[in-house]
Amino acid sequence: MKEAKRNSFKGSIGFVLAAAGSAVGLGNIWRFPYLAAKDGGGLFLVVYIILALTFGFTLLTTEIAIGRKTRQSPLTAYDKIKKGWKPLGVIGCLIPILILPYYCVIGGWVLKYFLLYVTGHGMDAASDGYFGGYITQEVQPIIWLFVFLFLVAFIIYKGVNSGIESFSKVLMPILILMVLGVAIFSLTISHTDASGVTRTGMEGLKIYLIPNLDGLTVQKFFTVVMDAMGQLFFSLSVAMGIMIAYGSYVSDEANLVKSINQIEIFDTVVAFLAGVMIIPAVYIFMGQEGMAASGPSLMFVTLPKVFASMGVAGNVVGCVFFAMVFFAALTSGISILEAIVSSLMDQFHISRTKATILESIVGLMGGIIVCLGYNKWYFEFQLPNGATAQILDILDYISNNFFMPIVAIGTCILIGWVVKPKVVIDEAEKTGVKFGRKNLYVVMIRFVAPALLILLFLKSVGILRVI
Ligand code: PHE
Repeated sequence: MKEAKRNSFKGSIGFVLAAAGSAVGLGNIWRFPYLAAKDGGGLFLVVYIILALTFGFTLLTTEIAIGRKTRQSPLTAYDKIKKGWKPLGVIGCLIPILILPYYCVIGGWVLKYFLLYVTGHGMDAASDGYFGGYITQEVQPIIWLFVFLFLVAFIIYKGVNSGIESFSKVLMPILILMVLGVAIFSLTISHTDASGVTRTGMEGLKIYLIPNLDGLTVQKFFTVVMDAMGQLFFSLSVAMGIMIAYGSYVSDEANLVKSINQIEIFDTVVAFLAGVMIIPAVYIFMGQEGMAASGPSLMFVTLPKVFASMGVAGNVVGCVFFAMVFFAALTSGISILEAIVSSLMDQFHISRTKATILESIVGLMGGIIVCLGYNKWYFEFQLPNGATAQILDILDYISNNFFMPIVAIGTCILIGWVVKPKVVIDEAEKTGVKFGRKNLYVVMIRFVAPALLILLFLKSVGILRVI
């Protein structure tokens, strides 16, 4: 009776765009281009695509199938697949709870920057020390965090159809158009610097695309594989319950295999285009050295300087760019909150409204703590991987490097060895479609994926060091 009332996506397009909306996020924009530039351009791309078609496909298929089969949220799904596996669901649900606060803080930064460009103050963002000055302010970042979280909560409160599905259907096509527009623009520009050197967008594109195998050693290749895998893992939004929650809303008639391929293609195409958008632009105005930045410093420090160098066009490009990042962050943010809200609803049988309000308050509290980590409560903490961290980085580290690999390894063991891969294969083939990569799936889920994940885990916690 209860199951019949469960929300569901109206169509498979809605599901694909919602899942792609989750997958396409800050990682695609601020991490993928940087890793590609660092890891030999085309070489990274090739490794990434091979891993996406094997490793990524396996994890994504598994989670979406678990969701649709159990019709449960992450917190309750594992136990339904196999009695006694609830702890995996608990950790799986803890991850989005840890991620939501800092993701919304970053979403707030994005909103602030978008507003700067819309109001014609993009130049301010390019001045030295602007970003540091902004995030160390006590009040403003909290206000923008609140606005971002409020928007996320509003969409989740509206529900699966009128909220997640309809917003994704509008935002994702616009996002693709904006990425394409900026990418094409990036390729057409050129700049002559003070020393008379002219660099063009097409040269930048070559750096991005042509595999650079100079001095490639086995060890370096291993680093490329690990980087690509870590990125893929984060980018597909797997191992944090999201794809289980979304999978649980997919209708029994939908062709899972086809939808999963579309989600992967969408995510990879946007990541690839983000590279076309960012690498040539940074190369033209800042040279090869400019590409050493990733994460917040790429987005909030380097790129505003690049936009400023573009002159008048820079304000428009900045505007489109931050609107695009905002859409990407918003659709990821809603997926994080949905994973938690659906868990609360299934576990405690409370209404969507109640669950949304409850978790939004928790997220807001957490977000305020994250903001305070840059001023009142500032401290420097050394992470096991050597990086210096504030509260945001600590939450990010614990969720991404520690809990996520654990959940993914646990899921592989559960499906690969305990209940057996047939459970997922049957679910994928339920509508009579052929699961083309069936044998590959079995080998991946039982052997290759857990082995790769264990390596990733050892690397993330600093036990396995690759230079
Ligand atoms: N997959 C998103 C990205 O690539 C990030 C994300 C993280 C989304 C956590 C949801 C939850 O940026």
